[in-house]
Amino acid sequence: MKKILVIHGPNLNLLGKREPDIYGKVTIDDINSGLKKMAKTKKVTLEIVQSNHEGKIVELIGKSAGKFAAILINPAAYTHTSVAIRDAVSSVKIPTVEVHLSNIYAREEFRHTSLISPVARGQICGFGKMSYLLGLEAAIGLIGKK
Ligand code: DQA
Repeated sequence: MKKILVIHGPNLNLLGKREPDIYGKVTIDDINSGLKKMAKTKKVTLEIVQSNHEGKIVELIGKSAGKFAAILINPAAYTHTSVAIRDAVSSVKIPTVEVHLSNIYAREEFRHTSLISPVARGQICGFGKMSYLLGLEAAIGLIGKK
């Protein structure tokens, strides 16, 4: 099973228009098409979801066991607040890669803490759209090792 669940958290649907000085002009569609292109080359299947709702993200992760070999997630603002998403990731035990467009450690102090990182296999941040591509490569590498 080489299926990867990609989750974009809250407000990432607004990319392109949202704070372009921080996130650039890249849209969620640009990111998704880059991911799909890489997935095709590497022969993995993606299911891509964007949600602004914490509970929906928790449910998606909770139902992912047995369906997905890895999870690639940008939890967005929930990175810094959501014990529920953290617990979901640690419950399902599916290798999870956390990504962020911006370098969260170079921004406001409240963004310096990720509740997700301790239960993720790793985190990539600060490279814009490339964070996702590197994250997908990492996720594929993790599946390969299984
Ligand atoms: C983000 C960083 C978060 O702090 C922020 O709340 C986001 C986007 C990023 O991709 O850089 O919504 O996850």
